[in-house]
Amino acid sequence: MSTPSKIRVWDLPVRIFHWLLVACVVGAYVTIKAGGLWTEYHMLFGYAVLGLILFRIVWGFVGSQHARFSSFLRGPCAVLAYLKGTTPRRPGHNPLGAWSVLAMILLLGYQAVTGLFANDDIFTEGPLASLVDKAWSDRLTGLHKLNEWIILALVALHVAAILWYRVAKKQKLTRAMITGDAPASEFAPGADSTRDTTGTRLLALAIAAIVAAVVYGIVSMRPAGF
Ligand code: HEM
Ligand code: HEM
Repeated sequence: MSTPSKIRVWDLPVRIFHWLLVACVVGAYVTIKAGGLWTEYHMLFGYAVLGLILFRIVWGFVGSQHARFSSFLRGPCAVLAYLKGTTPRRPGHNPLGAWSVLAMILLLGYQAVTGLFANDDIFTEGPLASLVDKAWSDRLTGLHKLNEWIILALVALHVAAILWYRVAKKQKLTRAMITGDAPASEFAPGADSTRDTTGTRLLALAIAAIVAAVVYGIVSMRPAGF
């Protein structure tokens, strides 16, 4: 059997997830800084982030091989071996980067959930704010605002790491996140392509539809007038 020249690293659902997430996080950030009526758009971007994160968590269990948490979250020994440079390169997240990916997913999920309970003391509140008293809504708003710096730091680290791999290691990770593929020669022999068929894409679409319905249900709990 001939060796393939390319390896499919990321399935289409992961790639769409990633670039939509980037657009929506940037959108949420810019609109809240613009203030005023833009807060309404901030919430819309926030709902989209919530849906994307819920999708990615489900996809982390049922998605294609390299998208699964079980394939990329490895213990401290694997991380140490990676840092020592003794691990052959495999497609997917490396053992160290994997933990920062999990941290980004969890922190953005936490940001979206605290946002649902937040208020701006003027005319905006999240759809679930009326489920808790004002003191709790204020506390969650405080946590929502505090998390801004942690997210900014993680995203800066993420982009710096991608640039470092490009410059120091000559690895074009962004290209794989766009096209899905990387040259097979970059990996240890025997590296597998991830499954990215019509079947996996339809499964992702079905999960996305269910997640959208759940988020719509949450948004509909917003009291009239807000
Ligand atoms: C708001 C900004 C960003 C956020 C929140 C973000 C978040 C993420 C997340 C959650 C993943 C994991 C993907 C998954 O397994 O589903 C990821 C991976 C990745 N991101 Fe970003 N990202 C951002 C900006 C960028 C930018 C600007 C670039 C390109 C310059 C980029 C390139 C990549 C690449 C190449 C990977 C795969 C890394 C690997 O090979 O292990 N990201 N990002
Ligand atoms: C995960 C995506 C989100 C990000 C990155 C994000 C980011 C932020 C940031 C940085 C602030 C503070 C702005 C400042 O003080 O200058 C903020 C405030 C706020 N966010 Fe979000 N947010 C997200 C999701 C949401 C959601 C889903 C809602 C509600 C549905 C929401 C509602 C609010 C409200 C009401 C404020 C204003 C608080 C105030 O002015 O006192 N956010 N958000």
